[in-house]
Amino acid sequence: MNEVTKAVFPVAGMGTRFLPATKASAKEMMPVVDKPLIQYAVEEAVAAGMTEMIFITGRGKRAIEDHFDKATELEAELSQRGKTDLLQIVQEIIPRNVSCVYVRQPQALGLGHAVLCALPVVGEEPFAVVLADDLIDAQTPVLSQMTSIYGRCGRSILAVQNVGRDETKRYGIVRVEEQSKSPHRIGGIVEKPDPEKAPSRLGVVGRYILTPRIFHHLQHQTPGTGGEIQLTDAIAALLADEDVFAYEFEGVRYDCGSKLDYLKANLAFAVKHPEIGAEFRGYLKSMGCRVPE
Ligand code: UTP
Repeated sequence: MNEVTKAVFPVAGMGTRFLPATKASAKEMMPVVDKPLIQYAVEEAVAAGMTEMIFITGRGKRAIEDHFDKATELEAELSQRGKTDLLQIVQEIIPRNVSCVYVRQPQALGLGHAVLCALPVVGEEPFAVVLADDLIDAQTPVLSQMTSIYGRCGRSILAVQNVGRDETKRYGIVRVEEQSKSPHRIGGIVEKPDPEKAPSRLGVVGRYILTPRIFHHLQHQTPGTGGEIQLTDAIAALLADEDVFAYEFEGVRYDCGSKLDYLKANLAFAVKHPEIGAEFRGYLKSMGCRVPE
């Protein structure tokens, strides 16, 4: 059965684009309205039926472990004060059937290296990789969209979106046949190419379903672009063994590692927030903004 039950969350990066906010706190703990980015990511994996959350952590990321752990004192305090609604929110951060595993990446040697750190826990199974700073607002969670494709083809799948010509330098860019339709069979992939060298405008974003064969290639990777062990390079090597597909997902993606997209995400999630959405929309209108109903 082509079932994906494990999700890997590499959260050991340094988050330099968001300094000074990320000097002593984890980028993945930054809230969009009232929930940290990593919680959105975990909820997406849970919605896609995954039950084992594997976090690749590093220095300064302890708050992530605490967030998904039982908070005995806080729960006792909320219960004593009769704040049952808040107590429920705190207790339901992660469903009971879901387990969390934390693996330390001793040095931030790159995304590929972070994924390789998950090998002892993932073993010989397909798995998802979720980059929490890519927050995707979608009717059907993107990981669910991808696992249903995986269920049909049993091959690695990368989420891609069209990026601007001048943005190719920020993404892994895939080569696909001109007339092909999503999910595209990938012919090649390059990390952060200059616009004139980019094989397409389809950039890889932070959702992957990978077959365990990727570990073999990660183990043999030498540092690539930026001196880091790149997941993109291992995927390029994987293409010699297996088909890999690029899937143009349905949803709006916010790169919350960038200040501008982080603010856009807060706005998009605030206007539809059950508690403050209506009031916030009213506020925006009072400021002269056009707000969709
Ligand atoms: P980014 O390229 O966004 O790097 O990493 P970063 O350090 O998080 O952020 P900036 O660019 O300096 O602002 C992509 C993802 O890979 C993880 C990051 O946590 C992020 O989720 N990562 C990256 C690791 O876990 N380990 C690494 O060695 C590198």
